[in-house]
Amino acid sequence: MSHVMNTYARQPVAFVRGEGVWLWDEAGKKYLDALAGIAVNTLGYGHPRFKKAILDRINSGIIHTSNLWRIPDQEAAADRIAEITGLDEVFFCNSGLEANEAAIKIARKYGHERGVAEPAIIVMEKAFHGRSLATLSATGSRKVQAGFEPLVSGFVRVPLNDLEAVRQVAEHNKNVVAVFVEPIQGEGGINVSRLEYLRGLKEICDRKEWLFMSDEVQCGLGRTGKWFVYQHAGFQPDVVPLAKGLASGVPVGACVVGGRAKGIFKPGNHGSTFGGNPLAMTGVVATIDTIKEEGLLANAAKVGQVIRDGLKSELGAAPKDIRGMGLMIGMELGQSCGELVRQALEAGLVINVTADNVVRLLPPLVMSEAEGRTVVERLAPLVRAFLARSSEATAAAR
Ligand SMILES: Cc1ncc(COP(=O)(O)O)c(C=O)c1O
Repeated sequence: MSHVMNTYARQPVAFVRGEGVWLWDEAGKKYLDALAGIAVNTLGYGHPRFKKAILDRINSGIIHTSNLWRIPDQEAAADRIAEITGLDEVFFCNSGLEANEAAIKIARKYGHERGVAEPAIIVMEKAFHGRSLATLSATGSRKVQAGFEPLVSGFVRVPLNDLEAVRQVAEHNKNVVAVFVEPIQGEGGINVSRLEYLRGLKEICDRKEWLFMSDEVQCGLGRTGKWFVYQHAGFQPDVVPLAKGLASGVPVGACVVGGRAKGIFKPGNHGSTFGGNPLAMTGVVATIDTIKEEGLLANAAKVGQVIRDGLKSELGAAPKDIRGMGLMIGMELGQSCGELVRQALEAGLVINVTADNVVRLLPPLVMSEAEGRTVVERLAPLVRAFLARSSEATAAAR
């Protein structure tokens, strides 16, 4: 029996080697990876430039110092993140939930500085922000919250893409200081915010002097064809939490701020022992530089289109919906379809199912068009057979 705590329903496969977008298991079987460790392995596996940077860092003898000292790699990583976000200050931590905790603390402190004693944050139904007490309280899923009450207070929940609901809250709740939105909901089923909606939200935030906080932990860092989803909408948020793909697999989180959130945190307000250490920061710099030099934003847009178009032409109207942006793709099947994960593994393809009935694809940004077509070739027959089986079962039950 394993001593690993039983918090995940794991598939009985272990990947032991990787190259590009390909993985090998212990038996030597080869798989095409359309998940990237859930949007983490931005540069795929064994990218030469990334590997060299990490090895050089290890060979220097220093992978950690402390935030008691200056960390030049941290300064370099923050400069790059400021450039690609258009924002001003970066707090480094180690995960998505930590980046979101920082965002929530910033919103509360912003509120207190404006004389709001009980600051509240507008959050969205079906959003996922993490599993710490504050972030699970902000998360719009009872499944994530159940058993962990009492929840952290100070969150007001509204449906995504419903501006009127936010206007109503704005009119009646004087405690609101921020809107926290996951502009493409990943765990919630690849639910895409309309760009008009995001612009409308931003307008309300500006009028009310609320913070606009965009959780881009999963959808950010180039996956949608631009660095960040808010850039598709054409404005600057005040707070942008990042993690997952930011260092291509080295654990890292970042809470990036600008606008009304700039200067809110001062010495002593927040901290993290490991946050921003030289190993993680080397990963950040190598990831961002490689995305730029290899044109991976344009690649994500192009290969994402190849996959979505391919699935549409192979499957027609059989799936309930095929949606997403760039290499963040959801195919809603309208029925529980978790079994497809195992069937895909058998067919040599790594995918995920989220929100019970949505096939989720989050491939490495280095995937080629040909590899994108291979994703479609391997996935479409499985989905076709799955939908045929379930419509036969429905007919037999009548
Ligand atoms: C949008 C979003 N925010 C936050 C998190 C939490 O990140 P972590 O698991 O690194 O704490 C996730 C993880 O799936 C996420 O998708």
